[in-house]
Amino acid sequence: MNVLGIEGTAWNLSVAVVNEEEVVLLVNDPYQPKEGGIHPREASQHHAEKMPSLLKSVFERFPKEKIDGIAFSQGPGLGPCLRVVGTAARFLALKLKKPLVGVNHCLAHVEVGRWKTKAKNPVVLYVSGGNSQIIARRGNRYRVFGETLDIGIGNAIDKLARSFGLQHPGGPKIEQLAEKGSKYYQLPYVVKGMDFSFSGMVTAAQKLKEKAKLEDIAFSFQETAFAMLTEVTERALAYLGYDEVLLVGGVGVNKRLQKMLSVMCEDRGARFYTPPVELMGDNGAMIAYTGLLMLKHGYSTPLEKSFIKPNFRIEEVEIRW
Ligand code: ATP
Ligand code: FE2
Repeated sequence: MNVLGIEGTAWNLSVAVVNEEEVVLLVNDPYQPKEGGIHPREASQHHAEKMPSLLKSVFERFPKEKIDGIAFSQGPGLGPCLRVVGTAARFLALKLKKPLVGVNHCLAHVEVGRWKTKAKNPVVLYVSGGNSQIIARRGNRYRVFGETLDIGIGNAIDKLARSFGLQHPGGPKIEQLAEKGSKYYQLPYVVKGMDFSFSGMVTAAQKLKEKAKLEDIAFSFQETAFAMLTEVTERALAYLGYDEVLLVGGVGVNKRLQKMLSVMCEDRGARFYTPPVELMGDNGAMIAYTGLLMLKHGYSTPLEKSFIKPNFRIEEVEIRW
């Protein structure tokens, strides 16, 4: 079975074809804001402009006739971007006369991670721009055991980077700065039960600019935020009695976060997994693969139910595999 998947919930317009074993092809055309953060309308215009050439490049390398299904990210994400993706997917499904399947973007991050690592039933730390959640499967649903009460960790890092005058996305630049920092400044460590929050930390970190070096602020920010995430992941692991941790989402490429989690896992005798870098942030392969799983297990999305779901939650999907 070959499934084509389209991702475009936010910054990355990405199309892939996968089969059960591998990613056959993956093409990206990311949106890069000229200044500031991601502007939903500009991002959607970018996606609409680039969609035809991206699909054309896919069909030049993979025959249309061999596609068995069309998967698309139905949500959560930015409304205008989701609309562009949904329209393209509906068009392709009609044109190729193949089933359409709407995929939950968060579920796709989790499933591509399980597919490409040996993790079977992990506690998942899903950290990206818009989302920060601790997810684990119980019965036939994934449940969210803890999450951010305000902004995602990626958005928090991007905001801090912007206030340093750095261009979006800020994650890699803050990571580089933090590697050169060593002096720790205390920042609000906000964990409430299993939930956490980052916006107060951003404000406090921005205020440090008057007295501290950027390297030390970036270092202090990462140490505090990643310790919060590691603490809650550990608590979920202990509570559930699971012995695997899977890190997914764009922030998951961060080496310091990976290190903290792997040390925690080692201390607890748990195994720690990260998927390959190109499948950690938003990508079409995760949508195509999750769509393939869904189609194989009897799911498909009729056109009249293929409307976008900007607030789609992972718990809403019944897992039949
Ligand atoms: P979602 O819709 O799942 O919230 P997203 O649109 O935020 O996804 P992702 O690709 O999953 O997209 O994540 C992007 C985020 O990852 C950005 O906030 C970016 O700054 C952050 N990021 C990228 N590289 C790093 C890094 N090395 N360290 C920390 N954060 C990073
Ligand atoms: Fe994402």
